Amino acid sequence: MKTVIIHGQDHKGSTYHIAHEIAEKTGSDITEFFLPRDFGEFCIGCTNCFSKNRGACPHHEKLAPITQAMDEADVIILASPVYVYHATGAMKAFLDHYGHRWMVHSPEPSMFRKQGVVISTAAGAGMRSTNKDMADSLFFWGVAKTYKYGCAVAAVNWNGVSDKKKASIHKNTSRIASAIVKRNGRVKPGLKTKAFFFAMHIFQRKGFNDRDREYWKEMGWTGRERPWH
Ligand SMILES: Cc1cc2nc3c(=O)[nH]c(=O)nc-3n(C[C@H](O)[C@H](O)[C@H](O)COP(=O)(O)O)c2cc1C
Repeated sequence: MKTVIIHGQDHKGSTYHIAHEIAEKTGSDITEFFLPRDFGEFCIGCTNCFSKNRGACPHHEKLAPITQAMDEADVIILASPVYVYHATGAMKAFLDHYGHRWMVHSPEPSMFRKQGVVISTAAGAGMRSTNKDMADSLFFWGVAKTYKYGCAVAAVNWNGVSDKKKASIHKNTSRIASAIVKRNGRVKPGLKTKAFFFAMHIFQRKGFNDRDREYWKEMGWTGRERPWH
């Protein structure tokens, strides 16, 4: 099993430790990237990725190693500390670069056979909205199953987290890791993803963007083909 972790921060605090613990407990090969160190560009809004192709993004080359690692992974972990109730700016800037992969545009077929995890930690509050920032992208990319784990650590770094809190974290990371291992290799998207995909399969027969319409046709998705088969 292969796991890729995208860390929305460039330091090894509570969020890092939780994300890493889940990946380790699945026993998978881990590839990880730290933002903004490994990718720190902002989307410039040229819309080339939507209207031409993803290679026309001015940041395509810089993003390529992360894109390749995500496409090859069985599990994608997006992790971010809560910054003012949301994911870090680095994580948001990263996710903006994959708008063209949303189901309403041109999703990558392998996503429909992957599992995803979103993780956030806060001193006290904001994990729900932060996890949603990341889970929205996983859902609209087509990721078949996503686990969400938000933890109020009452600390600003891992050393400050109490032993009692760490014991509860270890339990939760074990629970999520064993669910991932159990589903690995036989995960299929749920009803919500299939329903959204079905709506797009009708919509893309006409569509409003030539590139997306062509893509859906080429993939056979406007007909009977489905990316999870
Ligand atoms: C810029 C900034 C904004 C933050 N905003 C929040 C917040 O909205 N709610 C909260 O409970 N904690 C907030 N925190 C605290 C962190 O989310 C918390 O300490 C988190 O566990 C840090 O994770 P890390 O150890 O992985 O860096 C903020 C911290 C920073 C640096």
